[in-house]
Amino acid sequence: MVNQDYFGLKDKVCVVTGAASGIGLATATLLGEVGSKVILLDINEANGQKAVADLKEKDFKVEFVRCDVTNADDCMSVRDFVEANYGAVDVLFNNAGVIRRKTVVDLEESEWDLVIDVSLKGVYLLSKYLIPLMANGGGGSIINTGSGWGLKGGDQAAAYCAAKAGVVNLTKAMAIDHGPQNIRVNCICPGDTDTPLLRSEAKQLNQQEDAFLVSSAKGRPLERLGTPRDIAKGVLFLASDLSSWITGTDLIVDGGGLA
Ligand SMILES: NC(=O)c1ccc[n+]([C@@H]2O[C@H](COP(=O)([O-])OP(=O)(O)OC[C@H]3O[C@@H](n4cnc5c(N)ncnc54)[C@H](O)[C@@H]3O)[C@@H](O)[C@H]2O)c1
Repeated sequence: MVNQDYFGLKDKVCVVTGAASGIGLATATLLGEVGSKVILLDINEANGQKAVADLKEKDFKVEFVRCDVTNADDCMSVRDFVEANYGAVDVLFNNAGVIRRKTVVDLEESEWDLVIDVSLKGVYLLSKYLIPLMANGGGGSIINTGSGWGLKGGDQAAAYCAAKAGVVNLTKAMAIDHGPQNIRVNCICPGDTDTPLLRSEAKQLNQQEDAFLVSSAKGRPLERLGTPRDIAKGVLFLASDLSSWITGTDLIVDGGGLA
């Protein structure tokens, strides 16, 4: 059993995007375990409602709100919902993302826009509407999901690499702007983590899923893929008082892959 008080996150209001699956869901779960109030946002209403029903069975303080992070009206509605029901927001995990495994030549313009809009613009939009609320409450912690491919290039993932590099530097810009409001902003950079997103890449690249997962794990000093919970633990650290003087940085959680 996790010692809830140790992390200073008990009863803190935490908003998580892309929370119906993978890394977002694992993080919402871990935040629930340490006693936070978690608002799960996702564009996938069915999966989001199911996730919340499962977490409520564990007596976690969780709610689902449907939100497309690329839609300003949705993001404003989230702000209004959080303000009306919780009064403040302490932690924002900007995590929703999508990938299209294509070169610039092969990417349709609509695919480029989708990847940039969900993975990068979504961070801007939700932050735009929640930061004032966070500042009014005395500050908080924002964690943006980057990627190892925000720090180095990768093959056939041009829009994704561009979006994630944008997230890494947007994080630093936000940290500079909002530090005086006692808001810390950091980036978590996962390596290959076993989620539906990673598995979808095998299909996009016309590869066998098992072989793709094995090759994704290969070459890492820790010799395995990440689990969503591996990443969630890094997010919990950045959300909590344990990282009280850390802002504007990126935390690589990748089994040593980039080493
Ligand atoms: N899995 C990996 O190997 C890996 C590695 C590095 C970075 N990441 C990043 O981690 C984050 C989470 O990915 P994951 O692997 O858990 O993927 P996932 O596909 O399991 O979960 C992503 C969630 O985001 C939601 N989503 C998609 N578009 C949305 C939108 N417009 N608004 C709100 N929600 C939306 C999806 O419905 C889904 O529930 C992403 O930003 C991804 O780029 C993943």
